[in-house]
Amino acid sequence: MPQLVSAAALRQIFSLDEFEPLARERMDPAGFDHVAGGAWDEITLRESAEAWRRRRFIPRVLTDVRSVATTGSFLGREAAIPVAMAPMAVQRLAHPDGEVEAVRGAARAGIPYVFSTAASRTMEEVAQAAPDAERWFQLLLGATGTLVGRPLYWSLATGGAAGIERAVTILRDEIATALSLLGVERPELLDRGYLQA
Ligand SMILES: Cc1cc2nc3c(=O)[nH]c(=O)nc-3n(C[C@H](O)[C@H](O)[C@H](O)COP(=O)(O)O)c2cc1C
Repeated sequence: MPQLVSAAALRQIFSLDEFEPLARERMDPAGFDHVAGGAWDEITLRESAEAWRRRRFIPRVLTDVRSVATTGSFLGREAAIPVAMAPMAVQRLAHPDGEVEAVRGAARAGIPYVFSTAASRTMEEVAQAAPDAERWFQLLLGATGTLVGRPLYWSLATGGAAGIERAVTILRDEIATALSLLGVERPELLDRGYLQA
């Protein structure tokens, strides 16, 4: 099984899509298939990815975006970007330390970590590993951010906590670029009016 990629190699990753093949090389094939797969014919899995690709933003012009802020919030608590690590079962499939390594990565990147009901480490171990992390249990409603699942799972398998940090940096840069191009200063100012139907 290949080692985690080095810090220098992580800096050469520029798109979230690059993590999946790197994770595949590092994970046990059955574990990889469990995370990558969907139910039965995987119709919903395919269609949800295609639905995202069909979305287009509508940029506004003549707005001052010399400085954009990429911070987000979950029930009033601030995060580095409007993204939290989604609850995902059995993170030992991605990394020997599982959820303990994942929460460290989320804490380093400044995003909330959502603990799954089907975790492979205890809640106490996760709390002890990152006492200052923003830690959530899998049930949450009313957040003004989004949960990202598999891409962060692949980044955990690729580079451990540092891999998650790199993935969040890529996401933050993408959000900053998108906000600038859209003519929007902060993510919470976005609404459906910025989306092409
Ligand atoms: C391997 C795996 C395990 C998951 N386990 C849970 C879970 O225990 N609880 C839960 O609420 N959602 C679970 N999910 C769903 C994720 O939280 C998330 O909603 C889903 O992966 C969609 O986000 P994505 O398209 O960014 O991956 C799991 C997803 C995957 C891929």
